[in-house]
Amino acid sequence: MKELESRRKEVFKQMKENSVAIFFSGVSKVSSEDEFLPFCVNKNFFYLTNIEQEHSALILVNAIGEKSVYLFVDPYSELKEKWTGKRLTFERAGLISGIKNVYSTENFETMVSLALSDEDNQYGNIDCVYLDLTSKEQKIYENFFMNDYYMKLKVDYPHKEIVDVYPILRDLRMVKSPLEVQNIVKAINKTNQGIAYMLRHLKPDMLEHELADHFEMYGRTQDRTKLAFSTIVAAGKNATCLHYPTQNDKIKDHDLILFDLGFRHDHYCADISRTFPVSGKFVGVQAKIYEAVLIANKAVIKYAKAGLTISDLQNFAIETLKKECLRLGLIENEEQLINHYYHNVSHHLGLDTHDVSDREKPLEKGNVITVEPGLYFAKLGIGVRIEDNILITEDGAIVLSKNIAKEMDEIERLMLSY
Ligand code: GLY
Ligand code: MN
Ligand code: MN
Repeated sequence: MKELESRRKEVFKQMKENSVAIFFSGVSKVSSEDEFLPFCVNKNFFYLTNIEQEHSALILVNAIGEKSVYLFVDPYSELKEKWTGKRLTFERAGLISGIKNVYSTENFETMVSLALSDEDNQYGNIDCVYLDLTSKEQKIYENFFMNDYYMKLKVDYPHKEIVDVYPILRDLRMVKSPLEVQNIVKAINKTNQGIAYMLRHLKPDMLEHELADHFEMYGRTQDRTKLAFSTIVAAGKNATCLHYPTQNDKIKDHDLILFDLGFRHDHYCADISRTFPVSGKFVGVQAKIYEAVLIANKAVIKYAKAGLTISDLQNFAIETLKKECLRLGLIENEEQLINHYYHNVSHHLGLDTHDVSDREKPLEKGNVITVEPGLYFAKLGIGVRIEDNILITEDGAIVLSKNIAKEMDEIERLMLSY
């Protein structure tokens, strides 16, 4: 609760005097006819409220030296609860969010016009409105998107400045609190258990998606744990497609199998990749490619620290992979690396798997990022990626996923035990 309050306080600190910030939880998008996609709450709204119910809104008012917080949720409806499950009462919404002023969404527009009216009112003269303009596509009501709301405000209040609040939230969300790190660690540990469960079911000739199903089944047995993203299981050549979607091929005994997967814990994501030999043993060129990726993975982790940018990590990964691939005879010249490494080495991790970030901003203490070098040789039918999740500290990084096997001998021993 204290953390939620301090997040809101941080936003207030960065808002101009005489301004309001408006956030929406959003509503589900239609998938087809009367079917809806699963509801996915706007993460900036959630970060400030801990509320996940559709059609809710938050207003922060920073006026005449006074800072007020208003939360709007739909009135409790027994009938809605009968159709779609638990609904918030105002009391419960107040408890979850730590916000005292909880009102019905029916009062939302009145509140906005009251705060923004040019006539003298308790809020003085608000001349600036913060909106999450980076999420212009977000659906906030039936047939009404963030961009529509932006246009409406421009028409209704032509003299008010409208500012994107996203950079403020992005910078806040990039620095994780100890509680957020704890949630990520729990997600990683659950993911590690899911990997073990999945590998115990691995048999040559099973289909890739059958293996993925075992991972996901483990999650469902653990409080119906949610996935951080769609599970990727790719055998042999299929692993050279980064977000390989079909997963209908047989896993052969001589294949390396790449899995890229993660669970959530309390909304926070894990994002882990590992590459294991189905036979239980890395052989020939498989071992060489694996070695090059593992060296790059460890080198980037050792290099990462506050003050560097993600681009610095990427350049360092490329240099390391070039050197190792040349040393191991995997490429003939440096220019060839681009054919075998074609993605980024890191992204931020948090409420979203590819979490909000400013890639040019130097890393700072409290950032959680992935380190995921890979090498892909389609002609050899081999793709290797080793992805860890690390916490940036003042002078280095802590590997949050250190318990997930990645040394070759460790993996071979593990495979023997299954
Ligand atoms: N799972 C997607 C990624 O590693 O970025
Ligand atoms: Mn991943
Ligand atoms: Mn990743």
